[in-house]
Amino acid sequence: MKQVIELIINGEPSEVIVRPNELLVDVIRDKIGLTGTKKGCGAGDCGACTVLMEGKPILSCLTLAISCQGKHIETIEGLAKDGTLHPLQQTFVKKGAIQCGYCTPGMILSAKALLRKTPDPDPEDIRYEMAGNLCRCTGYKKIMEAIIEAGQGAHEGGPERVRI
Ligand code: FES
Ligand code: FES
Repeated sequence: MKQVIELIINGEPSEVIVRPNELLVDVIRDKIGLTGTKKGCGAGDCGACTVLMEGKPILSCLTLAISCQGKHIETIEGLAKDGTLHPLQQTFVKKGAIQCGYCTPGMILSAKALLRKTPDPDPEDIRYEMAGNLCRCTGYKKIMEAIIEAGQGAHEGGPERVRI
């Protein structure tokens, strides 16, 4: 039976009607209209659908929307503030850590959670925490460099304006 749930998406409450088997990724993209969250494999293997729920990365393709009642969800659309890209968005662009961009929203959200936990990560920390996010085109070296630079505040306005 369909049910009304409330999701707090990027700080904004949204009420949506969902079926019990409806996936969070489909609700975010098709009902809320935030298509920055990508659906790749749909099977928990690629990380493209990563969003933050209560600050922690989750795979929205494996999460039932109905289980997220009242939760705070952060998507890529919530990162830029007042026309300024988030530090991770800036360093991904600066380092060329983006090609087709399909993996990028999930990568950046996983990296955001990583930097919150470990502000000055070494390559091993990054390899471990980002293992679930796959990129088919850029290669991982530039992505790693972008995450390290964002942690060090090497972006516009940094380090004093770091908003990880
Ligand atoms: S689309 Fe969710 S892990 Fe690939
Ligand atoms: S930039 Fe194309 S999949 Fe990562």
